[in-house]
Order: sequence, then structure tokens, then C-alpha cells
Amino acid sequence: ELTIVVGKTAQIWDQAKRQDQENTNKDSPMFSRNDVSIWSILKKCIGMELSKIAMPVILNEPLSFLQRLTEYMEHTYLIHQANTTTDSMERMKCVAAFAVSAVASQWERTGKPFNPLLGETYELIREDLGFRWMSEQVSHHPPVSAFHAEGLQEDFLFHGSIYPKLKFWGKSVEAEPKGIISLELPKYNEAYTWTNPTCCVHNIIVGQLWIEQYGNVEVINHKTGERCSLIFKPCGLFGKELHKVEGYILDKSKKKLCAIYGKWTELAIVSHTCFKVVSPCLSLQTSVDEEPEEMPLPDGDTVQVIPGSELIWRIVPRPDNSAEFYAFSTFAMQLNELEEGMKGVLPPTDCRLRPDIRHMEKGDMDSASAEKKRVEEKQRLSRKNRSKSSEEWKTRWFHQGTNPHNKAQDWLYSNSYWDRNYSLLPDIY
Ligand SMILES: *[C@@H]1O[C@H](CO)[C@@H](O)[C@H](O)[C@H]1NC(C)=O
Ligand SMILES: *[C@@H]1O[C@H](CO)[C@@H](O)[C@H](O)[C@H]1NC(C)=O
Ligand SMILES: *[C@@H]1O[C@H](CO)[C@@H](O)[C@H](O)[C@H]1NC(C)=O
Repeated sequence: ELTIVVGKTAQIWDQAKRQDQENTNKDSPMFSRNDVSIWSILKKCIGMELSKIAMPVILNEPLSFLQRLTEYMEHTYLIHQANTTTDSMERMKCVAAFAVSAVASQWERTGKPFNPLLGETYELIREDLGFRWMSEQVSHHPPVSAFHAEGLQEDFLFHGSIYPKLKFWGKSVEAEPKGIISLELPKYNEAYTWTNPTCCVHNIIVGQLWIEQYGNVEVINHKTGERCSLIFKPCGLFGKELHKVEGYILDKSKKKLCAIYGKWTELAIVSHTCFKVVSPCLSLQTSVDEEPEEMPLPDGDTVQVIPGSELIWRIVPRPDNSAEFYAFSTFAMQLNELEEGMKGVLPPTDCRLRPDIRHMEKGDMDSASAEKKRVEEKQRLSRKNRSKSSEEWKTRWFHQGTNPHNKAQDWLYSNSYWDRNYSLLPDIY
């Protein structure tokens, strides 16, 4: 099967190259992945984890994975809403909607974010949205990113550590975001935890790239025992389930309180009256063999709304020029902004100061590629240096520990980032 793919690939790339030569004078914010022999890099790694393989910069988007994680916060208003609601089931609705909305920015995002360097950090303060966020790359192999966010009015804490496990399956790349996400609402002394669904990018080699997210997501309220069980549905052969999310909110005796349905790309809706929309079986089966070739077109592109339903979240449309800029949302477009006043304030490890990402953002791919190689080599060298001495890598803003709510291994915030004491920070760029 693979030889067929290679033959087809070569043919299509020749065509694409000719086309590209004809178009060379056109100014485009994005570059064509037809320019690189992706296949020559990827064919070695079928079934392998991709974290140890250096990928060409052309497959990237000009953001670090730490910045991409920050996109969880785009719909922070749902957390503020959870805080102001006195009924725990109403709070669960908001938190479940937040968990769905947090992955909405993945839609059509087929560029790979830059792997953060060990010790890299990212901070974001959004007074308009009422939160501040910071994150640190705390491990390189396996790559682990830890984050900690808080409501500026102290109405919530949101934290976690993510280990994106990337697997290449020949035609698709699957990213399993291992790691726990926790949300705390101090006013109610409540903690919620969940894990994100798996994200899959199809047609890596040829054809139209498209994204699917699938898997079970269970949001648990550890204080009340209430939970929201959601399935992000695999699209299926005929595309009927494309992007769909369905599930229930259950009380601690597992009684269904309401149904929740929608699409992670669009909206989330609650119904208290009709549970029939939700498939009776909450188990999930995906098979790599049954992966559809083309992005399936759903019959009706919107969700059928049951009368009496309550809309709990709807996506904000992306800006008109989004397609030309890596399918970024407005929120994503602002993540790498480096305003004058920030330069003296940010730690030298902040993603905004990373030279390869900055060059890519300006469209200078040659410098981006050269700088990416350089900083990765520098990282290798300093690891080698450490292995020769007795020195060990120390994470700066997080430490390893047990998540107090579900007792799993996690990275816990050391509470001092905003003091902005940058002494002894590593020189990683
Ligand atoms: C959180 O909810 C409580 C109770 O409704 C309210 O008093 C407080 O102002 C809320 N905090 C924010 C930041 O909305
Ligand atoms: C590694 O050690 C050498 C020799 O001590 C030093 O010159 C070099 O700067 C170090 N490199 C890094 C990246 O730490
Ligand atoms: C800053 O951090 C360093 C290293 O952790 C510490 O030795 C120093 O006392 C701190 N400085 C201040 C002003 O807190």
C-alpha cells in the first residue's frame, strides 16, 4: 500500500512544483507544503512517536506549542459564568461548554506548532478576558508543557500539564494530549478535572489536510460527584458525525440530568427534555483502517436543535483573512505580539523572543529554518554538557507532584512567576 502512496505522491508533487514555479512572484503569507519532501522524512517514522524527529519548519505554524495551549482560554467568560451560578449543575454546564470550547481553535489548524525548548516559557495577561496565564516547558523527552492560569478577580484557577503524544500512521498524524486539566472554583471549594480528546490531522502526504477530534472526555466535579460524559465522535465513513460532540450530565448516582450536544467547531447545547439525540452507547471505536480518504462533507452542516434546548456556547467566527494565516482565530493572531513595553518585562525565555518563530512570522523561512536548527543544536549541546557534569536540569516555575484532586502525577505551580525574579534563568535562544 505504501509504495502506491509514494508513486502517487511523486506525481502530485511534480505537478505542484510546476505550479509553484509559475506562481513564484505571488506574495503569500503561507508556504506550500509541496516544497519539501515530507515523505522522505516521514516514511522512516510510521508507527513511531514524532517527538524525537526534527521536522522541517515548513510544516509549522508561527507559534510555539506553549502559545497554542493558551488558546484554551479564548472562552474564559464561560468560567466566569460558572463562578456566578449558584446551582452546581448549571456550573457543570458552563465548565463542560468550556472544555468543548477549549479545543475549538484546533479547527482547520493543520500547521504544527514549534516544539518548545526545555525551559521555554509563555505568559499572557488579558485584562479584557479576566485572566493571566503562564506556562513552562518542564521536560524535553517526553515533551511536557505545564501551565497555570488564574482569574484576575480570583474567581478561578486553571492548570495542568500536557504531554502531546504524536503518532504517524502513514496518512495521518494523531496527537493524543496526555495529561490532566484542572479547574478550581474557590468560591464553591470545587475542583473539576478532565483530559482533552485526541486530535488527528488527515492527508499529511497528499490531498486536503483536515482535522478530526475524537475520544471520550469526562469532566468530573470532585466535590459533588457530578460528571459530564462527552464523546467527541469520529466522523465515520459517511461524515455524518463530523465534529459532533454528545453526552450527558450525570449526578453522583449516575442519573442523567440533561443531554449536551453540538459540534466542537461551532456550538454546545443542553436539553433537559429529550435524551434521544444522544447515541445510546457511549463507547467509542476508531479504526485506523477505516480512515476516510477525503474530508467528509456532512449532509446538513448545522446541528439539529431540539425544541426547548438551551445554547451554552457558540464560536466567534474567525477573521476574514484567517485562511491565509494558518487558520488562526483573532485570539491566536495576538499571541505572538511583542509590544514595546513588554521587552523589559518578559523573561528572556518567553516564546515571543524565540528567533525561529519570529522569522517565520515575518515570512523569512530560510532564517526560520536556520535558527530552528541552531536553537535545537544549542539545546542538545547544553544537555550534553549537563550529562558530563553532575548538574541537573531544574524546572523554574513548576515542580513535579501529585494532583490533589485525582491523585495522578502532575506538575504543580510554584507560585512565584509573577514576582518576575529572573535570576539564574537559562539562556535557551
Ligand atoms: C464569583 O461569584 C461570586 C458569587 O456569585 C460573586 O460574588 C463574585 O463577584 C464572582 N466573582 C467574579 C470575578 O465574577
Ligand atoms: C557547553 O560547554 C562548553 C565548554 O564548557 C561551553 O563552551 C559551551 O558554551 C556549553 N554550551 C552550552 C550550550 O551550554
Ligand atoms: C531571586 O531568585 C534567586 C534564585 O532563586 C534568589 O537567590 C534571590 O534571592 C531572589 N531575589 C529576590 C529579590 O527575591
